[in-house]
Formats: sequence, structure tokens, C-alpha cells
Amino acid sequence: MSEKQPTTLESAKPPSVPLVPFSKVLAVTSGKGGVGKTFVSANLAAALAKRGLRVLVLDADLGLANLDVVLNLYPKITLHDVFTGKAKLEQAIIKAPGGFSVLLAGSGMVEYSRLTPEVRDDFLRIMSGLVPHYDVLLLDTGAGISDVVLFAVSLASEVLVVATPEPTSLTDAYATIKVLVGQQGRKAVRLIVNQTARLGDGRAITAQLQQVLDRFVTSEPGHSVKLLHLGDIPADPMVRQAVMKRQLLMQTMPGCPAGLAISQLAAKVMETVLPQQP
Ligand SMILES: Nc1ncnc2c1ncn2[C@@H]1O[C@H](COP(=O)(O)OP(=O)(O)O)[C@@H](O)[C@H]1O
Ligand SMILES: [Mg+2]
Repeated sequence: MSEKQPTTLESAKPPSVPLVPFSKVLAVTSGKGGVGKTFVSANLAAALAKRGLRVLVLDADLGLANLDVVLNLYPKITLHDVFTGKAKLEQAIIKAPGGFSVLLAGSGMVEYSRLTPEVRDDFLRIMSGLVPHYDVLLLDTGAGISDVVLFAVSLASEVLVVATPEPTSLTDAYATIKVLVGQQGRKAVRLIVNQTARLGDGRAITAQLQQVLDRFVTSEPGHSVKLLHLGDIPADPMVRQAVMKRQLLMQTMPGCPAGLAISQLAAKVMETVLPQQP
């Protein structure tokens, strides 16, 4: 047990996170769990890699990491070993099917699902080591607004919020965005609407959510946020099929409706989200 372990009271009320984001780092987050963050992270990474970018996905969902399951990768060395000093950062980076790199959390990271000063420092050190080597880094974060999730998001220059059209998911997305505006001073957040039933659903949902934000968040002094609609991904049975087989959709069925949507999303990320390549 570390000496610098904070008291329960300290850890219960996290300090407001100062925003020192890394450019080229995109956080994939959500209010509600199970909305498709890991699916989006892994497949968007594959689509960006196909377009020639050097991509790394970091499993930042420390408590409930499952990127390994989706990618069917079970490396001996993981982020956990880097955190505990048992391995070097380079040793924990592995190639995923789909042509991108991954840094998997591994089991045992649960103890890091609480934000202590050590976890913060380790995270910052790891990010500083990674960023120069890639064109884009995706952080597959946990759901919700725990201090560790908010800290992971605070490292990213851009936030991609994933939500489904269900009212529960949208309410939680609203709550998350509200915290990102209040605590991190975010002025813009991108929305990916996953599992849509009809074309155009995502645009309408973005407009509705923007209205609510304008009414209840922007009305607070100094707070304003632009919700930018990044794209929609239709509900597609092929997604579940790929997950069941532990295959990457973009590798095995890139032409299915969800696969095509991910390709479009990758194009838009390159055009509008990432710093322009020379
Ligand atoms: N576009 C989609 N169409 C159909 N099913 C989907 C879609 N996106 C996600 N899913 C289903 O939702 C499950 C949870 O997704 P996951 O990415 O693990 O969520 P999260 O990381 O947000 O907890 C997936 O395993 C898959 O079965
Ligand atoms: Mg996940």
C-alpha cells in the first residue's frame, strides 16, 4: 500500500481536473455503459489505420476493461505491468488485427479505477511517452462521470461521446457533457449516435440535445457548448455477430451497414477532428 494513498474523503471528492489535453488524442466516452464505445474505438481505429494513419487504442476503461475480449487478444504484458514497473511501455504495446496498435489494461487494473495521485502521474507519463509515436490515439474510456473517467477524458483534445437513441442513454450523455463543460471547460463535444433505426435520427437527436444544453448548461455564466454531430452508426446484426466471433467488424464485414458508417466516420475524423496532415 502506497504512503501517498489519499483518505476516503479526498478520493470521494475529486479536484476539478485542469485541462492539459494532448493533441491527436480522442477520448471515446459515454454516459451510459454498453452503448458501443469499445466497438467504435476498435473499428474506428481499424478504419483510420486503413487510411494510412498510425493508430493506437488505449484501454482506459480500467475497471471494466474489455477491449481484449473484443479483439481476442490476451497479451502476457499489459498496462498493469507498466503501471507496476514490471515492464517497459514498449513491451505492452501490441499489434491488433486491423493494423493498429493497442495498449490493453489487463486484469488487475481494478485497483487503478480510483484516481490517486500515482494513477494520475502514471497515466500522464504513459501518455507523454505514447503521443509522439502515433498520428492518432483513441482512449476507450469507461462510462459515466467517475473521477478516473473524467481524468482520462481530460487528457484528450477532442471528446467523442457515444450515445444510442434511447432516452436513458441520451439523459446520461447530457449529464456527462454537462460535467465536461463545468469541470473541464469544454466548448465543443462531438456526438456519435450508435444503433440508429433510421437515416437522419442522429442529426435530430443532436439538435434536441443541443437545445437542452442551451437551456440548462449554456445559461450558466461562462458555460457554452457546441454539440457537433460526427455521425451515425445504424443498428446492425453484423455487429453482434462479429463480437460473438471475437472478430473485428472492419476486417470481416466492412461492407455491412455499420461497417460503411464507420468508414464514413473515419473520413470525417480525418477531415474535421484531427490536425491536418501535411
Ligand atoms: N451498431 C450496433 N448494432 C448492433 N449492436 C451493437 C451496435 N453497437 C454496439 N452493439 C452491441 O452492443 C454491445 C456493447 O458494445 P460495447 O462497445 O462493448 O459497449 P461499451 O464499450 O460502451 O460498454 C456490443 O457487444 C454489441 O453487441
Ligand atoms: Mg467498453
